[in-house]
Amino acid sequence: MSWRADAKKRVAIEAVKHVQNGDVVGLGSGSTAAYAIREIGKRIRCENLKIEGIATSSEAERMAIEEGIKLTNLDVVEYLDVAIDGADQVDPDLNLIKGLGAALTREKIVDDLSNVLVIIVDDTKLTNKLGTDMVVPVEVLPFALSQVSKRLEEMGGTPLLRSLKDGKPLITDNNNYIVDVDFGPIDDPRKLREHVKLIPGVLENGLFIDMADLVYVGSKTGIKKIERK
Ligand code: 5RP
Repeated sequence: MSWRADAKKRVAIEAVKHVQNGDVVGLGSGSTAAYAIREIGKRIRCENLKIEGIATSSEAERMAIEEGIKLTNLDVVEYLDVAIDGADQVDPDLNLIKGLGAALTREKIVDDLSNVLVIIVDDTKLTNKLGTDMVVPVEVLPFALSQVSKRLEEMGGTPLLRSLKDGKPLITDNNNYIVDVDFGPIDDPRKLREHVKLIPGVLENGLFIDMADLVYVGSKTGIKKIERK
């Protein structure tokens, strides 16, 4: 196992310690969150825990079923006790860029409704400024693609429609497109989040501001826990 995979697994195991019997748990998407789903499944089997999960993507749902995690949804629960999710970038204030896994809209809904949001990353994801060598993924209604792209350019971004290997656009679980926007280093991520969100045809963007309560960062040498001030 590479050091990164090992670090992801270790932070996932640490994060799952926040899950208690009876909890409703948000199940994040991506390779790091996948380790957390596996660990929750293991704890359910070993400790006979009664846990319900809300999956943030079809892939997270598939894994949860495989792991025997009972699934619920937002029609029947009002909030979640804890959500465990990955991220693509984390700044010193624990603001995040998410969405390279294309699940940002459901992730934002679930993460926002969680009493505690635990983010798990390896240390390559840490940055002093969001947007440094990282795009901001934006979920866009296909009908509005051209107009949204134009507006994103007017805001100083360079948008690129995310495509699959065969050249066809990636389609999200919500039947939309993802536009990856290069804004360069972002001075005011809160303001940018609001401006992008206001473009008609934008469903959601990958700027997660003031949402993470704590972040576990895995490195070659160990795990660091960073809590929001
Ligand atoms: C999916 C996400 C993921 O959490 C993010 O892309 C991190 O993924 P990974 O753990 O595979 O690096 O935001 O939409």
